[in-house]
Amino acid sequence: SCNTSVPLCPVSSEDDPEQELLCIFGTGDLGRSLGQRLIQAGYRLVYGSRRPHSCGPLPPGTQVATSHEAAAQSAQLIFLCVHREHYDFLESLTPQLKGKVVVDVSNNLKRDLYPEANAEHLQRLIPGAHVVKAFNTLSAWALQNGPSDANRQVYLCGNRTEAKQAVAETATKLGFTVVDRGSLSAARELEDSPLQLFPDWRLPMRLTVGLTAFFFLYVVIRDVIYAYVEQRKDISFRIMVSLANKVFPIVSLIMLSLCYLPGIMAACLQLSRGTKYKRFPDWLDRWMLCRKQLGLVSLAFASLHVLYTLIIPIRYYVRYRLAAITISQIRENKTTAFDTTMAWRTDSYYSMGVLGFGLFLLLGISSLPSVSNILSWREFSFIQSKLGYLTLFICTFHTYLYGWDKFLHLASYKWFTPPSYMLCLIVPSAVLLLKMLLLLPCVDKRLTRIRQGWERADPE
Ligand code: HEM
Repeated sequence: SCNTSVPLCPVSSEDDPEQELLCIFGTGDLGRSLGQRLIQAGYRLVYGSRRPHSCGPLPPGTQVATSHEAAAQSAQLIFLCVHREHYDFLESLTPQLKGKVVVDVSNNLKRDLYPEANAEHLQRLIPGAHVVKAFNTLSAWALQNGPSDANRQVYLCGNRTEAKQAVAETATKLGFTVVDRGSLSAARELEDSPLQLFPDWRLPMRLTVGLTAFFFLYVVIRDVIYAYVEQRKDISFRIMVSLANKVFPIVSLIMLSLCYLPGIMAACLQLSRGTKYKRFPDWLDRWMLCRKQLGLVSLAFASLHVLYTLIIPIRYYVRYRLAAITISQIRENKTTAFDTTMAWRTDSYYSMGVLGFGLFLLLGISSLPSVSNILSWREFSFIQSKLGYLTLFICTFHTYLYGWDKFLHLASYKWFTPPSYMLCLIVPSAVLLLKMLLLLPCVDKRLTRIRQGWERADPE
């Protein structure tokens, strides 16, 4: 009814008065992709453009209004797909935009570019309109092709409930799930979120880099620099495989144990507080939330350790040493007797390594959404908790067996420092020990009661 009075230059002549008419300001990538999706969802569409007669190819079935005023007047819901720098023209549209819902889909190139969120700035420019921030976390690609797993949600915020409802309805028709983030003051957060790169990975990545750098330095000093200073030998080539094959499994084992440490700390807190109804400290919450990432990094590093171990027999250095030993035995006409203990010992730690890695893979696979979705909560937590502790135990045992009696030999403590494998056993051993304490019947019973809601008479 409202578009008969509005002068439009039609791109296509189809017109169905049953369909709701929407308006998009801006004919860039985002405007075009959004338009295509809206047309597919059965809306009619009018574009507002600075250059109505030369705005490039638009989705078939859409129209371009001769002016922004005309476009604004024709629809109740207006998508603003222009950059913030070009918002100023909207001020002159104040009369046409009064009472209309204006959707701000904009993003910035950097954080803190402006003192005020784009959507809040817009609301001040056109106080008579109802500004809703939405769709900005989606790419033009996701808008054009419809929701995919990673882009199913449309976050929105705005000051007026009816306006948000109108936008939510449209988003739902496009197949997205709407998440209402509250009033327009949340716009800042929504505008910042596409600028973040892997936010859940920040803490685990810092930890990985920190631990890797520390242990790399530690083994370089203890192996390469020690040999150079004390024996005048250059063994720096060992950095590439031998040292890498220490650093990766060490960091892997520590990270695996760090997946289980926060759960143990939480249990200890609950036991000492005598209640589960008190919030955990922030750092513990954040730690708990990144356990999956810690586990995945740990699995990746364990895989590297396995690959590095597999190439040991084909290394030039190893083949050379084997040949040299054989030749010297022939020359000196000596044979070393077969050492059954040595066979047991090495086979045992290889076997523990293989078992540990197998269980580790199982943990990783069961955390894939396609797998975890078909598991019940009980099954999932059985795998991640019980099998997780078993994995940690076996991998720790693998490392103890590898160390065997090295701790008894003074030569292991170069420059009075313990070998790196000993350092990496500290956290896993502590986690396993604490877990065993928590499994003691008297402790376990109390913890179970607390988790079922029981409170100590006088929780401090
Ligand atoms: C050390 C084999 C899985 C943790 C070693 C070593 C070998 C080995 C041969 C001695 C490396 C050297 O001489 O420097 C294997 C095999 C595995 C496996 C065959 C599975 C197929 C794992 C897993 C973990 C792990 C899953 C735990 C995350 C360690 C640690 C060391 C070690 C911490 C001591 C590193 C050092 O300080 O030298 N493993 N391993 N291993 N492995 Fe494994």
